Amino acid sequence: MTFDVYAVQRDFPVLSQTVHGHPLVYLDNGASAQKPQIVIDTMARFMSDAYANVHRGVHTLSQKATEAFEGVRPIVQRFINAAHEDEIVFTRNTTESINLVAQSWGRANLKKGDEVLITALEHHANIVPWQMLRDALGIVLRVVPVTPEGDVRIEDVRAALSDKTKLVAVAHTSNVLGTVLPIKEIVQAAHDAGALALIDGAQGVCHDASDVQAWDADFFCFSGHKLYGPTGIGVLYGKRALLAEMPPYQGGGDMISSVSFEKTLYKDPPYRFEAGTPAIVEVLGLRAAIEYLSALGMQNIAAHEHALLTYATQKLAAIEGVRIVGQAKHKAAILSFVMDQAHPHDIGTILDRCGVAIRAGHHCAQPLMDHLGIVATARASFGLYNTIEDVDALVAAVTKVQEIFG
Ligand code: ALA
Repeated sequence: MTFDVYAVQRDFPVLSQTVHGHPLVYLDNGASAQKPQIVIDTMARFMSDAYANVHRGVHTLSQKATEAFEGVRPIVQRFINAAHEDEIVFTRNTTESINLVAQSWGRANLKKGDEVLITALEHHANIVPWQMLRDALGIVLRVVPVTPEGDVRIEDVRAALSDKTKLVAVAHTSNVLGTVLPIKEIVQAAHDAGALALIDGAQGVCHDASDVQAWDADFFCFSGHKLYGPTGIGVLYGKRALLAEMPPYQGGGDMISSVSFEKTLYKDPPYRFEAGTPAIVEVLGLRAAIEYLSALGMQNIAAHEHALLTYATQKLAAIEGVRIVGQAKHKAAILSFVMDQAHPHDIGTILDRCGVAIRAGHHCAQPLMDHLGIVATARASFGLYNTIEDVDALVAAVTKVQEIFG
């Protein structure tokens, strides 16, 4: 199938507007991606035609809603190539998925002196939950350095592992640098050391195909909203044998098999981890997003974005005073940069006046900023609907910043 980016662009109604008199060029996909019409329509149609609570009702509408909701689990399973559909837990987002693992698996399996290994490029979502556990249990948080180019070297991962390491928790893709980590090798190294591996897929899942079995990942997390789906829905994948041994994270309705004041029995996974009414409409929206992406082909999306990244990197680097932050060997379409004279917030503001939406700041990765010795970056993050013309608009706007500040 040929990838027609202009046809794809027309599937996203929000993109057809102007901002400050310029056609919108949306390059803030790393923060959140826009939604295709099919996602919007699926959610609206479900609410107007078929909405009811799930797992509870004997009435027809509830049974239909339950069937539709549960029908999404095998679709997510196939999308990330999990072995079983009961390995798919619906959460609120990546952050909640990581907190679930920290609070459930972590509290049940970690003790004082045990080590959790992360890297210097992690998002706060894959740092703070482990720090909370460090404060509660006395575990040690070890950090693998990142090279000045933004690479995580497998030899540095291996050097940081020991028999105390119980979990290696790493991003699939850096939200700041675009670095794609050597996931398979990192998981292998973790397993060789007797540790488990958690992959934060928030920034990776939208750029290329994910395969939890090929990686042999123990846990994998992602959010719907960065995958062209709705906010409020995320996924935790966990190997069946691990989830089976994990205690609940939150208590409430829908996660129990029986409750008395004396004793409560919990359901099996994944329901044990889904207390309360789930994000029913959002799960349906996630299905629509996954089906939309699968029809386009994740490999086609990856190839398209890679071409954009190569072109954008060449063009931006050629502008006087611009320095690209993050030149890893293997990158997804995320391009951070700084300029000699202009602060990233000034860059972001001027670009906005030109209709170009980017993110500026520390990108929820303050320790990485410290590690790199910078306070902030401007970041263009590309999605499947971005075009060469979008890159040209970015380059023209950055050139304008250079003219103003240079
Ligand atoms: N984590 C998101 C980002 O990188 C919000 O922008």
